[in-house]
Amino acid sequence: MRVEDNEKSGNVWPWLGAIAAAAALLWFGKNEPPANAPTATPRPTPATAPLSTSPAAATSPPNAPSPNGGARPFAVAQDERVAFPIITNPSPEATDEEKSRWVGAAVCGECHAENWKSALHSAHYNTSRFASGDSLLGDYHAPGNRMGTGDPALSFEMLEDAGRFFQSAVQNGRESHRATIDLILGSGKMAQTYATWVKDALFELPVTYYTTARSWVYSPGYMDGQAFFARPVNSGCLDCHTTGYIPESEGEKNHRFKSRHIVPGVTCERCHGEGAQHVQHHRTHPTDKQAKHILDPRKLPAAKRDMLCSQCHGGVNTEDGGTDKVGAHSNNQLQRLSLSACFTRSESLHCTDCHNPHRKERGDKKLFARRCQTCHEIDDCNAVTPDRREHFADNCAQCHMPRQQMVDIDFRTTTGQVVSGFTGGDGVNIPEIVDHHIRVVRSDKTAPPSPDR
Ligand code: HEC
Ligand code: HEC
Ligand code: HEC
Ligand code: HEC
Ligand code: HEC
Ligand code: HEC
Ligand code: HEC
Repeated sequence: MRVEDNEKSGNVWPWLGAIAAAAALLWFGKNEPPANAPTATPRPTPATAPLSTSPAAATSPPNAPSPNGGARPFAVAQDERVAFPIITNPSPEATDEEKSRWVGAAVCGECHAENWKSALHSAHYNTSRFASGDSLLGDYHAPGNRMGTGDPALSFEMLEDAGRFFQSAVQNGRESHRATIDLILGSGKMAQTYATWVKDALFELPVTYYTTARSWVYSPGYMDGQAFFARPVNSGCLDCHTTGYIPESEGEKNHRFKSRHIVPGVTCERCHGEGAQHVQHHRTHPTDKQAKHILDPRKLPAAKRDMLCSQCHGGVNTEDGGTDKVGAHSNNQLQRLSLSACFTRSESLHCTDCHNPHRKERGDKKLFARRCQTCHEIDDCNAVTPDRREHFADNCAQCHMPRQQMVDIDFRTTTGQVVSGFTGGDGVNIPEIVDHHIRVVRSDKTAPPSPDR
C-alpha cells in the first residue's frame, strides 16, 4: 500500500467502530428491540389513537413507552397545534466547509465515467434519496394512498401537493397531523421508509412502502393503532445508508444533522474516502496517471478488504460472533460466507470476487454462475446430469445459496395484520435474501435456523 492510500484511509476506518455500535439499532433488529417494537403477537389496540406531536415526544428516544404502557403526553394534538412544522426549505445552505467535505459522485464521474454511470442504477446509489416523484414508490392518489389501521377511527394518507409529498394521519375523518417526506431510506428492492425534518432533527415516518406486498405497512418499531411520528432516525441508519452527513453531536443515537446536510446514497466517497484532495490533485496534474489521495480497496490487506463491505453487511450480532444467523436487517453476509468451504479451503475469496460494487448485477444468474466457475467446473457438481448440464451451468447459486425469508422482521399491514419472519405472516411474502453460506443444501437443512440464535 502506498503512503497516499494510508493517508486517505483515515476517512474510512473510523466508521467501523461507530457502526458496530450502531448495529444495535437496526431497522429490523430483534436482538435489542425498542420497548415499543411490534412483536409477532398482536397487541390490543389502544382505545384512542393518540397523536404524539408534542415537542417532548419529538425529542424522546425510540424506545419511549408505547401508549399501551400509558404515560405519553398527547396534549398538543388535542390543542390542534402542529408541533411538526412543514419545513418550507428542504435544504438550507450548508457552510462552505460542510459543502466541500464531499465532492459528490458526479464530480468523480468527470474522470471515472464508466463506474459512475453504472453506479447510478445500483441499490447502493439509491439506498437513500431526497423525496421526489421519480424516487417514491407507491400510490399518492386515492384510493391506493390510504393505509387503514387496527383502529377503525385512524388511517393514514400519502399525499402529493404542489410537488411535495406528505404522510397524514386521519382521525375520525379529520386530518390530525401532516408531515413532509424529505428523505427516502431503502432503494425499494424490499422496502422504502421515509424521514422528515423537524428543524435539524430527522424522524422516521409511521408508514413504510413494502415492495414485496406492494402495500403500505407500519414502519418497523411503530405500533398498530398509533399515530406516532416521532421515531428518531439516528446516525446509525445514515452510517449504512448514506455517503456522509454532519452530525450535531457524536454517538450513534444522535439524530440531529447540521444544516440538514446529508450526502444521500452509498456512493463513491463512502467506500473510497473523501475525495476533494484527489480531485484537486488530478485536476491540477492532468498528466499524472498515478492515483493520489484516494483509497484503492484492491491494495488493502485481504482481511480489511472484506471489512470495507462488512461494516454494513456484517449483521447485527458481530460482538458475540453471530455466525449462524441467516436473516437480519443486514444479513451477515461475511459471517455466513466464512462458514463455506469455498471460503475456508480456497486461498482467498472476497466479496468483490462475486460482486462489482459499481454495477447493478442483481438477477444476472449467468454472471454469478460464471464467478463460481472461476474456481469450479460444472463436473465438480456431482448432481449434474447430461440432459441438465446447461441448466446447472447457469444456476449454481440457485441451489447452493438458497434464498431464505429474512428472520428478524416484523411488519404490520394495512389491516393491522402482523407480518413477521418468525410467523410467516399469513399470505404475505417476507423478503427473501440469499444465504451466503455456500453449501450442498440437504432438504432437512433448508429450514431457517431458530431466530433465537
Ligand atoms: C480530474 C480527474 C479525476 C477526478 C475528478 C477523480 N479522479 Fe479518481 N483517478 C484519477 C486518475 C488520473 C487516477 C489514476 C489513473 C486511474 O487509475 O484511472 C484515478 C484513480 C482512482 C482510483 C484508483 C486508485 C488507484 O490507486 O489506482 C480510485 C478508487 C479513484 N480514482 C476514485 C475516485 C473518486 C471516488 C473520485 C471522486 C471523489 C475521483 N476518483 C475523482 C482522476 C480523477
Ligand atoms: C449496519 C448497517 C445498517 C444499519 C445501521 C441500518 N441499515 Fe438498513 N440496510 C442495511 C443493509 C446492508 C440493507 C440491505 C440488506 C440486504 O440486501 O442484505 C438494508 C436494508 C434496508 C432497507 C430495505 C432496502 C431495500 O432493499 O429495499 C430499509 C428500508 C432500511 N434498511 C432502513 C434502515 C433504517 C430506517 C435504519 C435505521 C433505523 C437502518 N436501515 C439501519 C444496512 C443497515
Ligand atoms: C460499496 C463500495 C464502493 C462504492 C460505493 C464505490 N466503489 Fe469504487 N471500488 C470499490 C472496490 C471494493 C474496488 C476494488 C474492486 C476490486 O477489487 O476489483 C473499487 C475500485 C474502484 C476503482 C479502480 C478500479 C476500476 O474499476 O477502475 C475506481 C476508479 C473506482 N472504484 C471508482 C469509483 C467511483 C467513481 C465510484 C462512485 C460512482 C465508486 N468507485 C463507488 C468499492 C466501491
Ligand atoms: C455504507 C454501507 C455499505 C457498504 C460499505 C457496503 N454496502 Fe452493500 N449495501 C448497503 C446497503 C444499505 C444496501 C441495500 C441497498 C438498498 O437496497 O437499499 C446494500 C446492498 C448491497 C448489495 C445488493 C445489491 C442489489 O442490487 O440487490 C450487494 C451485492 C452489496 N451491497 C455488496 C457490497 C459489497 C461487495 C461491498 C464492499 C465492496 C458493500 N456492499 C459495501 C450498504 C453498504
Ligand atoms: C475462490 C474459489 C471459489 C469460488 C469463487 C467458489 N468456490 Fe465453491 N469451493 C471452493 C473450494 C476450494 C471448495 C472446497 C473444495 C474441496 O474441499 O474439495 C469449495 C466447495 C464448494 C462446495 C462444496 C461444499 C461443501 O461443504 O462440501 C459447493 C457446493 C460449492 N463450493 C459451490 C460453489 C458455488 C455455488 C459458488 C458460486 C456461488 C462457488 N462455490 C464459488 C472454492 C470456490
Ligand atoms: C461466491 C460468490 C459470492 C461471494 C463471494 C459473495 N456473494 Fe453476495 N451474492 C452472491 C449471489 C449469487 C447473490 C444473489 C444475487 C442475485 O440476487 O441475483 C448475492 C447477493 C448479495 C446481496 C444481496 C442480498 C439479496 O439476496 O438480495 C448482498 C447484500 C451481498 N450479496 C453481499 C455480499 C458481501 C458483503 C459479500 C462478502 C462478505 C458477498 N456478498 C460475497 C454471491 C456471492
Ligand atoms: C439443481 C440444483 C443444483 C445446481 C443448479 C447446481 N448444483 Fe451443485 N450440487 C447439487 C446437489 C444436490 C449436490 C449434492 C449431490 C450429492 O452429493 O448427492 C451438489 C454438489 C455440488 C458440489 C459438491 C461436490 C462434493 O464434493 O460434495 C459442488 C462443488 C457443486 N455442487 C458445485 C456446483 C456448481 C459450481 C454449480 C454451477 C455450475 C452447481 N453446483 C449447480 C445441486 C445443484
